[in-house]
Amino acid sequence: MRIAVRVVAALVLLCCAVSARQEQKAPGAGTAAEYKIPPEASKLPNPVKSTPASLAAGKKTYGFDCAMCHGKDGDGKGDLATDMKLKLADYRDPASLKDMTDGDLFYIIKNGKGEMTGEGERSKPEEIWNVVIYIRSLAKKDFTAPAKQ
Ligand code: HEC
Repeated sequence: MRIAVRVVAALVLLCCAVSARQEQKAPGAGTAAEYKIPPEASKLPNPVKSTPASLAAGKKTYGFDCAMCHGKDGDGKGDLATDMKLKLADYRDPASLKDMTDGDLFYIIKNGKGEMTGEGERSKPEEIWNVVIYIRSLAKKDFTAPAKQ
């Protein structure tokens, strides 16, 4: 909400400052929607097979690096997410990640997105692929969305 106010304020300032002839876009306006995953990255298949070992490894990394925000079971209600007032997707809902490829997930986990810091060079690619396998495994077939409070 506060960001929206700032964007509007920035736009108003720009309108006054920029002469009518120049068609300039407000810097930062709509940046959230402009998050782009390169098509090559999006198409990358997961080179790691889902096995009990890769799942267990993914679970371990998830527990250390992700659960504080995305929640231990993927419900998106980790302590840090609550503190930061983040509204996160519920990975127990099979719909939550279904429109994303494994390559998309890898890219976001590696590079981060919005308030999320990526793994960067902290994790080897194989470890990130393990986490991709693990977060896909959090989906529950019989998931029903909790009632809205
Ligand atoms: C500081 C809290 C935080 C941590 C830690 C964190 N994330 Fe996120 N994550 C977010 C937020 C916030 C978004 C939504 C970003 C956006 O769309 O602007 C997100 C988005 C994602 C997405 C994209 C799909 C979606 O839910 O929007 C994936 C996949 C993801 N995170 C996985 C992970 C994994 C795996 C880890 C651990 C390696 C991790 N995250 C660690 C906060 C976090």
